[in-house]
Amino acid sequence: MQYQWYPGHMTKAKRQMMEDLKLIDVVVELVDARIPYSSKNPDIGAMANGKSRVLLLNKADLSDREKTAAWKTYYEMEGYIVVTVDSRGGSGIKEVGTAVAEACREKTERDRRRGIQNRPVRAMVAGIPNVGKSTFINAFAKRAVTKTGNKPGVTKGKQWIRLNKDVELLDTPGILWPKFEDRAVGLRIALIGSINDEILVGTELGFELCNFLTGNYPGALALKYGIEECSDGNEMLLRIARARAWLKKGGELDVEKAAGFLLDDFRNGKIGCFTLEMP
Ligand code: G4P
Repeated sequence: MQYQWYPGHMTKAKRQMMEDLKLIDVVVELVDARIPYSSKNPDIGAMANGKSRVLLLNKADLSDREKTAAWKTYYEMEGYIVVTVDSRGGSGIKEVGTAVAEACREKTERDRRRGIQNRPVRAMVAGIPNVGKSTFINAFAKRAVTKTGNKPGVTKGKQWIRLNKDVELLDTPGILWPKFEDRAVGLRIALIGSINDEILVGTELGFELCNFLTGNYPGALALKYGIEECSDGNEMLLRIARARAWLKKGGELDVEKAAGFLLDDFRNGKIGCFTLEMP
């Protein structure tokens, strides 16, 4: 699950994306609904300039419903057609086909006026690693009428998933890079488990998570671990370890273990549904 972006990787990813963009009408951009800002690629706007854009707030089963609604409004005001999706559970998938057709309505009508008929709209999925691109494509493909094979000469080596007579989706997603500059962004991506924990120490992440949850979702940790809450993340980790009787060999409280379990519980939605940032 480790993604180290080097300049060479980025150039290659960008080149591939620019190639694929030539084939398509609409970009279906995925972000993680728990971090809709931090999981969004900073350069896609410039790269996909002129293309229709649909934004999926994926993993919405793990995010705070009210905050997801606020993000949906926010991105709609930025000009996106936004769909809230749970690619693993399947909810929202159906709406994506409609959203893609909607995003391209103008183009379809222009085609029709020019006498071009039955040319399906072509879409591709893009997003930073781990936002659920493959899971989404699989879920989408299950609904598909047919999977079209290679179309030699036209789109060599590319597979298209045909959802209905109006929409085709490129079966390989565009892999994009995250925002690198901002430490807070890196931290949030690490908290949801999308970059290798070895970069950031588990106890550090656990500490940050405790502080975030006690500050923004008071009572969630108390309920999950049967502890009293306080505003000191380190003390919270100690309390979790004490409540679970996690001790190291010498009898000292095992905060590393507490942090590990806390992060797993959080990432799997076992503490609740949370959003880490607001528009
Ligand atoms: P990517 O192509 O963008 O890199 O992401 P991918 O589809 O591989 O998904 C990354 C992880 O996120 C997978 O979990 C996948 O099951 C999970 N996932 C994708 N969409 C959703 C969603 O809408 N809701 C939830 N809850 N999870 C989602 P994994 O643990 O890496 O694999 P696995 O346990 O599913 O095998």
